[in-house]
Order: sequence, then C-alpha cells, then structure tokens
Amino acid sequence: MAMRILVIGGGGREHALIWKLRQSPQAPAIFCSPGNGGIAQLAECLPADSGDIPSLLKIASDVKPDLIVVGPELPLAMGLADQLRSHGMAVFGPSRDAAQLEASKSFAKQFMLRHNIPTAHFAVCRNATDVSHALAPLHAPIVVKADGLAAGKGVVIARSKEEASEVALAMLKGAVVGPAGSSVVLEEFLEGEELSFLVISDGERFAPLALARDHKRVGDGDTGPNTGGMGAYSDPSILDGQMRDWLLHHVVQPTIAGMGAEDTAFSGVLFCGLMMTARGPMVLEFNCRFGDPETQAIMLRLESDLVEALADAAAGRLSAGDLKWSGEASCCIVLASAGYPGQYQAGKLISGLDEAAAMPGAVIFHAGTSQRNGSFYTAGGRVLNVCARGAALPEAISRAYAAAAKISFEGMQYRTDIGRSGLAVHT
Ligand code: AMP
Ligand code: GLY
Repeated sequence: MAMRILVIGGGGREHALIWKLRQSPQAPAIFCSPGNGGIAQLAECLPADSGDIPSLLKIASDVKPDLIVVGPELPLAMGLADQLRSHGMAVFGPSRDAAQLEASKSFAKQFMLRHNIPTAHFAVCRNATDVSHALAPLHAPIVVKADGLAAGKGVVIARSKEEASEVALAMLKGAVVGPAGSSVVLEEFLEGEELSFLVISDGERFAPLALARDHKRVGDGDTGPNTGGMGAYSDPSILDGQMRDWLLHHVVQPTIAGMGAEDTAFSGVLFCGLMMTARGPMVLEFNCRFGDPETQAIMLRLESDLVEALADAAAGRLSAGDLKWSGEASCCIVLASAGYPGQYQAGKLISGLDEAAAMPGAVIFHAGTSQRNGSFYTAGGRVLNVCARGAALPEAISRAYAAAAKISFEGMQYRTDIGRSGLAVHT
C-alpha cells in the first residue's frame, strides 16, 4: 500500500512541500489540513484551523498517516507534535518545549547566551522598571520584540529611546499583540543583509538546506511595513563555502547540541534567521519550521527525495550525507492582495494561472486561494507564489517575473525587485 502523508497547513510553503513530496519515487498518498485551492489538485484537503488541536488530532486518527509534516508554528507551539507522538505517530516537527526557540524570544535569546551563539545584545523586560534599566546602555535605533508568537507583528524598530519605551510599555500592557507582549525583548539594531539558513534535524544529526534570502518589507527597496515575506531566492553563490561552514560550526551545531543537552532535543526544521553584519553573522531569530516563502525557492532546487529526508528525521535516523541540490538558481515572487499586510478583501477572480504555469521554468504555488466551479479566487493576503528556476539567478528572476506578468486579479500587488540584492555577484 502507498505510504500516507498528512501535511498540516495551507499556505504556499505547504503547497511547495507537497509538490516536492509528490515527486518521490515512493509515490505517497497525500492529505492536507486545511490545504488551499492549489493544494487540492495534489492532495485530499481536510478542513481544520491550524490552532484547533482536537480537530487536527481527529483528522490524524482518521487518516492514519505513516508520516505527519507540520507546517506552521502555532500548532507546534501548542504541543501538536507531542500529542501525535504520544499516539505512536511519526511526526516531522519539534516538541512544544523545543518549539520555544521560536515561540519565546526570551527563551531563544537566553539559550543563545548560554551557548555562545552570536546574537544582538538584549535585555528581557517584564515591567516599566526593567524597560528603563534596559534602555540606559542602548543607542537608537532600538528593536522592541514581543516575547511570544505574534504572526509577524511583534517586532518594532524604534527610532528613539522615547519611542522604544512607549512601544515596550504598550506591548507590556497587552495593547499591541495581546498576551504575546506580556514580556518584551529590547535589543540593539543590527545592520546588514538578511539570510535564511534552514537545516533538517532528527534531534542529533542535521542536514542543511540550500540557503535562501527572504524580502520581508512590503515595498520595493525594502520600504514599508514588515510582512510574512514578499519573495525569496536561492542561489548557489548566495554565500561562499567557508562562511557556510562557519555558520554550521558556530550557529547550527551548538544550537542542535545545546537543545539536546538541555533535554529539549530539536527535531524538525531549525530555521536560523541571520543578519550578516560587519562584526560577522548574528542570529536575529530562530523559527521551528520551514520558512515561507523561502521553502518555495528551496524546494525548486532540491534534487533528493524529500519523503525519505523527512521520514528519516522523524524516525531519528537522519543519514549523514548531504542532500543534493541543483546548481541552478530559483526565485519566488509573492502576489498579494491590495492592502496586505493590513486589511484586504478576498474573493477576487484570478486569471492567467495556466498561461503563467506554461512559461519556461515556472512553477506556481498557491498561498491564499479557493476554488469554485473551476475558477480560482483570492482567499488571503498572500495569494500566489510565482516561482521559477534558471541556469543562474538573473534568468530565474526574469523567468519568474515573465510568469507573474501573465496573472492578474483586482488589486494585485507585488515587489518588482525580488532577488536584486543577489545580482551583484553575477555582474
Ligand atoms: P524577527 O521576528 O525577530 O525575525 O524580526 C522580524 C524582522 O525584524 C527581521 O527579519 C529583521 O528584518 C528585523 N529585525 C529583527 N531583529 C533585528 C535587529 N536586532 N536589528 C535589525 N533588524 C531586526
Ligand atoms: N519568511 C520568514 C518566515 O517564514 O518567518
């Protein structure tokens, strides 16, 4: 009988994972909860909210999967993986305790301090007195972070100490992101290029994924508010081998070893969000899951069998060999609804999907879409991920934009400079 895989989540990240899982020689049957309009073409979709643990447990016990892959952070932070494992299921994703690396910024910062992992200077504040003490040695700009999960809305870069104090006190009062702000981290502002380094771990061993760069701000030239991510690229020349080894040695290895030594072994995807500063690379944040939209760009370059890699990690038997990657580059452009990351309207008819998918090297992943009577409609802030591979980064970028130009829906917005920061090495 075919292997059965249940994927939890319903964004572009999950669509890309399912697209890759389906290419496995193991030809698995795939189920997804909740999925989206695009995923429904590849998997059986089962509705459930990603924070609704009882419904997800019920779906898992009905589907009886051989492997469960958890996409979003919320169910992981709520202990979904622990509960599934206690029912004897094979799960790719960290325990609730290990997911603290993402779910609690103070936990992550204190962990990094204990294990000598390079990160910005910081202080954890629980009240107004802590805030005024913490601000004294800092210079503006100052980064104010809500401790808990805040769906990308928990980080504010304050231009002055006064503003930092105001924001921190508002967060502590619960006025900004609710209980996620009941403690806050204040930290020094770091300058440099951001980089996402993801590894798959079985709790002890790890296999690095291809490096990728996200574009977090909504507007061209990194302007406007932060979003979940407006595009990404992955390119073999994003980083030289020496720097990659340095990161493995000084960030990834001590994190996996440290979590193991503290009895919170981390199995799943460890996502290191890095800032490449003049003082060297520093960890901005950890995530306990695949990145979105990094995963879309990364999956386009993966040549190894994803089913085998995730099943081995879930079973605690990850093999030491590196995963195989295409020497080509990839680019992913997010098409978003008007108003995103603020209020937006859903239900707009999408046209041009087939024409876009037929463009050279293009692959379209759905993020927030729904399907009705054979047509697709917008159903989220981030709607589609138009991705392409090319012999080198310039070709991947131009192919992705050529495909994106075929798609339209009312109010569609996207950045026109995805990947540009990676072009310098190609000129
Ligand atoms: P985080 O959720 O911690 O990754 O923060 C979200 C975004 O805020 C990051 O991707 C950075 O763009 C920015 N950011 C976070 N921490 C810092 C920092 N210490 N210095 C500069 N920018 C930061
Ligand atoms: N792209 C950043 C994230 O997934 O958090």
